[in-house]
Amino acid sequence: MSFTVAIDGPAASGKGTLSKAVAAHFGFAHLDTGLLYRAVGREVLDGAEPVEAARELRKETLERDDLRTAEVAEAASKVAAIAQVREALVDFQRAFARRSGGAVLDGRDIGTVICPEAEVKLFVTASDEVRAERRFLELEAKGFQTTRAEVLADLRERDARDSARATAPLKPAEDAVKLDTTEMSIDQAVTRAVAVIEERLGGRE
Ligand code: DC
Repeated sequence: MSFTVAIDGPAASGKGTLSKAVAAHFGFAHLDTGLLYRAVGREVLDGAEPVEAARELRKETLERDDLRTAEVAEAASKVAAIAQVREALVDFQRAFARRSGGAVLDGRDIGTVICPEAEVKLFVTASDEVRAERRFLELEAKGFQTTRAEVLADLRERDARDSARATAPLKPAEDAVKLDTTEMSIDQAVTRAVAVIEERLGGRE
C-alpha cells in the first residue's frame, strides 16, 4: 500500500525534525525535498547552469555535507523559483511519495503541487523569532559565526521569496492541518502529528 504524508512549512519551522520523527514512528520512508533544491543551489554556486543541474542531479551532490549552510539555503531558494528546475524534480518526488510502505515528504509545495492527493497534509509554522532562535542555535552548534538578527533577516528574506514566486509558492493546501509549533516542544508536535496520521490510517482500515 502507498500512504503519503505531506509536511510543508517555512524555513526552520521544525518540519524536518517532525518529518523524521513521524517517519520513524510509522516505519515510513522520508524525503527532505529541500535537499534537492539545496543540491541544485550548491552546483550553481560551483558554476553549473540551474536547469541542467536539476535535470542531471547527482547522488554525490545530494550526499555532500555542506548543503546546510546559509549560503546554500539562499542559492536553493533562488533556483527553486525557476519553473524548469522544479519541473525536473517532480517525477522523482512523486515516485518517492507513492512507494509502497508509506512515505513522508517535507518541503514547500508537497501538499499543493507534488502530492495534492496525499492522505495527510500538515502545514507547520512557528513565529519568526522562534524559528530564528532554533536555526541560530543549530548553526552555532555547528560552529558557524552568526547573530540572531542576521539569521532572522535571512529567514524572512527566504520566506518572502519562497512565498512570492509564481510557480508552486509556499502556502498551505486548503485541506492541510495547521500545526503552530511556537509554544510546542518537539515531543508535543510529534504527538499531535502522529494523532492526525493515526486518525487517517484508521479510516482506511
Ligand atoms: O527546506 P529547506 O530550508 O532545506 O529548503 C531550501 C530551499 O529550497 C527553500 O528556501 C525553498 C526551496 N524548496 C522549495 O522551493 N520547495 C520544496 N519542496 C523544498 C524546498
